Amino acid sequence: MVNGEWSIGQIGVIKFLHYGTGMKKTTHKFSNSSVDYYLDSGFSHLRKIVDQKNAVILTDENVFNYHRQRFKGWNIIVLVPGEEFKVQSTADIVIEELLGMEAGRKTTLVGIGGGVITDVTGYVASVYMRGIPFGFIPTTILAMVDASVGGKNGIDVGVYKNMVGTIRQPKFILHDLIFLNTLPQNEWENGFAEVIKHACIKDAAMFRELETNSIRTYRKGKKSICDLIQRNVFLKTRVVKQDEFEKGERRLLNFGHTLGHALENMYDLSHGQAISIGMTYASVISEKITGFKEANRVTKLLQQYDLPTFSEFDRKKVFDILKMDKKREKNEINYVLLNKIGKGIVKPIPLSQLENLISNI
Ligand SMILES: NC(=O)c1ccc[n+]([C@@H]2O[C@H](COP(=O)([O-])OP(=O)(O)OC[C@H]3O[C@@H](n4cnc5c(N)ncnc54)[C@H](O)[C@@H]3O)[C@@H](O)[C@H]2O)c1
Ligand SMILES: [Zn+2]
Repeated sequence: MVNGEWSIGQIGVIKFLHYGTGMKKTTHKFSNSSVDYYLDSGFSHLRKIVDQKNAVILTDENVFNYHRQRFKGWNIIVLVPGEEFKVQSTADIVIEELLGMEAGRKTTLVGIGGGVITDVTGYVASVYMRGIPFGFIPTTILAMVDASVGGKNGIDVGVYKNMVGTIRQPKFILHDLIFLNTLPQNEWENGFAEVIKHACIKDAAMFRELETNSIRTYRKGKKSICDLIQRNVFLKTRVVKQDEFEKGERRLLNFGHTLGHALENMYDLSHGQAISIGMTYASVISEKITGFKEANRVTKLLQQYDLPTFSEFDRKKVFDILKMDKKREKNEINYVLLNKIGKGIVKPIPLSQLENLISNI
């Protein structure tokens, strides 16, 4: 990506200039802590939130290379980008770096990047010295609307996604939409998969808004993307607040993820592509189980945002991975289905029935 000479000017995207220079803050209470959201903000405000000398930024090479000048004066650890590095050995490297920097209990770890960076940041900060404060500046749509919100932070183990991790809230989340100026098109698509997920399970009005738009229109409209991101952050926050430790409502956020996670690492798909396929199959399964009638509308919207839907995959192998899903309880798996657009539900489905359903779509 760094070598790809991707340039904003060439594809005519309006730059987010001087966007959000205020310090508007909202505070959200979770069970054990509260999180400050600075969503109309800018990177420069980070200095006002954390003590620069007592903070370490964790980012990846892409974000660092595109935005190098912004990081001057900060302690920084730069990781190689990629989901394949969201593993324990990367966490170990970060821990060693932190030790080398003499980071202590009062050091704040600030993750600036996509979901891989926010996950590694939250995970390492939760275990380093039994827990240090951390905050996020998400720089992808996906990380803004999803990965940075809710306090789940995990790493992958082999093909098993997020198999090891923690639930611990960051101290703050700060958005600076200027980062989106350098986000490649495929990463916009990736992020819109989670936006569509939110619309499917909870927000029929947002679903309709998405139907009348496209990535192109959102990339052009500074206000529309800003509003859409915030709507999604607050939607996810509401769901998580009701059920931080995933006993009920929060499970809805796994719409498309059970099958999606099984596909993601096996076929080297992006997270968004994988859950897009997962949502397609979950919508069709919903038609068979809940009487949902609009699977076509869901697949049409996914296609409109350049996301994959029905796909060839090795049903048996994928099912073997899917059986290890964290949502499995004995011989049943809690599957997220749709009653209608904007209304997700969780239904336990016996594994044998699920295998049958997926094999026949
Ligand atoms: N913890 C959670 O609740 C949660 C929720 C959803 C997803 N996730 C995790 O998030 C990850 C996916 O997130 P992602 O898609 O953001 O992945 P990512 O962190 O790999 O970022 C995608 C790519 O975009 C690059 N990038 C990031 N910001 C950029 C910018 N502003 N300009 C240019 N390039 C930029 C990155 O270097 C990377 O190559 C997965 O590991 C997934 O499991 C976690
Ligand atoms: Zn996801």
